[in-house]
Amino acid sequence: MTVTIVGSQLGDEGKGGVVDLFGDAADVVARYQGGDNAGHTVVQGGEEYKLSLVPSGAVRGKVGVLGNGCVVNPRTLFEELDTLRERGLDPDVRVAERAHVILPYHRVLDQLEEDVKSDDDLAAGTTGRGIGPTYEDKAGRRGVRVGDLLDAETLRDRLEYVVPQKRALLEEVYDIPIEDHDEVDPDAFDIEVLYDQYREFGRRLEAEDMTVNCGAFLADRLEADERLMFEGAQGTAIDIDHGVYPYVTSSNPTAGGAAVGTGLGPSVVGDGEVIGIVKAYLSRVGTGPLPTELGAVDGQTPEDGGRPGGADLAEYIRDEGGEYGTVTGRPRRVGWLDIPMLRHAARTSGFTGLAVNHVDVLAGLDEVKVGHSYTLDGEKLLTMPPTTERWADCEANFRTFEGWPDVDWETVAEEGYDAVPENARAYLEYIEAELDTPVYAVGVGPDRSATVVRESPWE
Ligand code: IMP
Repeated sequence: MTVTIVGSQLGDEGKGGVVDLFGDAADVVARYQGGDNAGHTVVQGGEEYKLSLVPSGAVRGKVGVLGNGCVVNPRTLFEELDTLRERGLDPDVRVAERAHVILPYHRVLDQLEEDVKSDDDLAAGTTGRGIGPTYEDKAGRRGVRVGDLLDAETLRDRLEYVVPQKRALLEEVYDIPIEDHDEVDPDAFDIEVLYDQYREFGRRLEAEDMTVNCGAFLADRLEADERLMFEGAQGTAIDIDHGVYPYVTSSNPTAGGAAVGTGLGPSVVGDGEVIGIVKAYLSRVGTGPLPTELGAVDGQTPEDGGRPGGADLAEYIRDEGGEYGTVTGRPRRVGWLDIPMLRHAARTSGFTGLAVNHVDVLAGLDEVKVGHSYTLDGEKLLTMPPTTERWADCEANFRTFEGWPDVDWETVAEEGYDAVPENARAYLEYIEAELDTPVYAVGVGPDRSATVVRESPWE
C-alpha cells in the first residue's frame, strides 16, 4: 500500500512532522520531486534534525529514496548523511539513477537569473539551490543524471557538451568574465574540475551501493507487501503547473508527481491514500501575491499587498509559529487560511485525508479568520483563477471564527480529538466540510507526539 503526502499550500505546511508520524508504519519513504530546496525539520525525542534533501523517514530508520523526479546535489546529500552519522544515526538512502544532478553552475545561474528578474519584479525568491536551472537542463535534454556519475565516459561526454554552453551563457549573455569575477567560482565552469569532483561522488554512490532503478526497486518492495510513503516537498500553490506561475518551483509537488517521479503508475498512487497537509493559517517565503496576507514583509510582499493594521498580528503569528525559512532563515509572509487555495489543492491531488498543523499557534487569539471565497470583477470565486495576475486581483471574503484558548496541547494530544477546544474543532470541521475530506490528524505542537491522530491512513 502507498500513502502520499502533499503540501496543499505554499510549501511550509509542516509536512516533515506528518511524514515522520505516519511514516512510522512505513517501510520506505520516497521523495518524488524537488531537491535541497526542501527544508524540513524533524523533531524526535527533543532532538531536532534539519534536512533539505534526505527524506525525513531516514531519520527514523526507514529506507529513504530520492526518486527520479528529484534533482540531487551530491554534495548536500553526503553532507547531510555524514552529519546524521555523526549524530549516531545510520540512514539508508537510495538515489534513482534517473534523477538529475545539480552542478555548481546551476546554483550560479539560479542566483544570476534571480538578480536579473528582480529588476522587473519577476524574481521567484528562489532558494538559490540551482533547482530551476537543473530542471531546465532536464527538459532541454542536456542534463547530467545520477547514473552518468557512475560511468566515466558518459560523464565526460555530458560535461563536454554542456559546460561550454554554460560558460557562453555567463560570458556572452550575462557579460560576466568567469576567470575574473568576485562572485563566480571559475571551478563551477571548469570541465576537468567538475569531472573529478562528480566522478568522485559517483564512486562514493557506488561504493555505498546507493543507486537504484527507482520504479523497479519500489515495485519489488510493494510486491513484498511493504508500505511505501511518497513524501512530496514544497506545495500545490508553488507547483510548476498548478501553482502561481512564475512564482513557483520547477517541479510537481501535486500527487501526479508521485507517479512520474518514482516510476510507479498513477493507479498505484491512487490506490493508496493521498494526504493533504494544511497549515491552520498561511505562510510563504518569496514574492508574488497573497490575497489573505496580514502585514507586509519588506522585499517580499508586492507593493499593494498586505492588510493595513495586520503587521502586529502577522508578527505575533510569525514568532509563535517560528515562521522563518528552514533553508534560508528569511522571515515568512503570514496570512489567514485561504480556502479557495485549498479547494484547488484538494482537486489537483485528489486528497483522501487531511492533516491540519499549527492549530496551537493560533490559540489565544480573540478571533480567527479564513478567506472563504474571492471576489473578482464583481463575481464570487470559490477556487483560484488560472493566472497569477488574476489571483492578484482577487479580493478575499473572510469568515470569522471565535478564537480558542491556549491549553496544555501535549495533554490534548494524549486525550484525543474530543479534548481539542470546541472552537478549534468548529474550525477544523469547517475545513473538512469545505474540502469534503476528513481530517486524519491535527498538529498541536512541533514534536510528533503533539499530534491528535483521528485515523491512520494505513488502516
Ligand atoms: P526554488 O525551488 O529554489 O526554485 O524556488 C522557487 C520558489 O519556491 C520560491 O518562491 C521558493 O521560496 C519556493 N520554495 C522552494 N522550496 C520551498 C520549500 O521547501 N518550502 C517553501 N517554499 C519553497
